[in-house]
Amino acid sequence: MIQILNEREFPVDELRLLASGRSAGRTVSIEGRTLEIAEAVPDAFDGVDIALFSAGADISAELAPAAVARGATVIDNSSAWRMEPNIPLVVSQVNPGDLEGHPGIIANPNCSTMQLAPVLMALRDSVGLERVVVDTYQSVSGTGADALAELEGQVRAHVAGEAPVASVYPHPIAFNALPEIDVFLPNGYTKEEWKVVTEDRKILHLPDLRISCTAVRIPVFVSHSEAVHVETRDAITPERARELFAAVPGVIVQDDPATHDYPLATEAAGRDEIFVGRVRRDISIAGDRGLAFWVVSDNLRKGAATNAVEIAEILRERDWIRPAAARGATPFAAPTEATA
Ligand SMILES: NC(=O)c1ccc[n+]([C@@H]2O[C@H](COP(=O)([O-])OP(=O)(O)OC[C@H]3O[C@@H](n4cnc5c(N)ncnc54)[C@H](OP(=O)(O)O)[C@@H]3O)[C@@H](O)[C@H]2O)c1
Repeated sequence: MIQILNEREFPVDELRLLASGRSAGRTVSIEGRTLEIAEAVPDAFDGVDIALFSAGADISAELAPAAVARGATVIDNSSAWRMEPNIPLVVSQVNPGDLEGHPGIIANPNCSTMQLAPVLMALRDSVGLERVVVDTYQSVSGTGADALAELEGQVRAHVAGEAPVASVYPHPIAFNALPEIDVFLPNGYTKEEWKVVTEDRKILHLPDLRISCTAVRIPVFVSHSEAVHVETRDAITPERARELFAAVPGVIVQDDPATHDYPLATEAAGRDEIFVGRVRRDISIAGDRGLAFWVVSDNLRKGAATNAVEIAEILRERDWIRPAAARGATPFAAPTEATA
């Protein structure tokens, strides 16, 4: 987030770095300046205009209201507030208008949702969406810094002929594929899969969208990949779909099977765009109403930090930093959710 604020030259008068008490007092060097980290306690938000939160749902649930009470507007990367009906859940190029009615907290979507919603938006707006099935291939950086170290350690152990040690994940992640991301829910889905279902419905304003997901962790460091199958209301060709995808800001179509050109996790890493390829007819659906494609994006950038900073940019450009009530704007209300 700090890197992206600098890259995009977001106008920051004062950058305040907060973390847990464990990190308080440590220093970070940013563009030649040395900044000291302070502990994230409620009073640390006094005088803050925009607070970018990324410390997990429990911390956000506790500290975001305290930050708002001190005048900050919180852009939260965790799952704590995403499905609250009065909290906007925003992908910058899909539903920026939802920000207008924010009550002081804005939710940044889950990384798997983030890269999917702009692509689905293109189909929603042209041929309508009937049903979506998405299977994810997610990198370990989506779990955080500890998981990056765990994959690296297991690869080194393998090369050294030693047994892998698993502590972040329930099984070794190196040379494996784990169909378990976040906790299991009573309906058999994992919470990650359920986030893709419910968050896409909210962002796309399609509370009844038929959508299902299987989320899989794979031994990739950065970037999530997704195999997406869509049933549309009206007929559409792969050629037209490529045009529609390419017209979405921040989406790049990379689709030339003849030259083995398609989106790759390694190439998307470090980029802000969402890459789409392997666009083809889904032959299991009649009447040219089925599409299959592959979507890849850097989960740390567009999937988290870039979108958070883009939200901050929109708030600033449209003069929406203060909560709706302070500006006389209509409070945000999510479209009523379907029972699933
Ligand atoms: N990684 C992704 O792709 C991604 C994408 C979308 C959303 N998210 C969400 O972002 C959140 C953070 O994920 P991450 O991958 O960045 O995790 P991470 O690498 O483990 O970093 C967690 C951060 O939270 C801080 N923290 C922990 N306890 C705290 C406390 N009590 N008060 C203040 N700060 C505290 C940590 O500071 P210390 O070093 O001091 O402990 C650290 O800076 C999660 O909710 C995650 O679901 C992540």
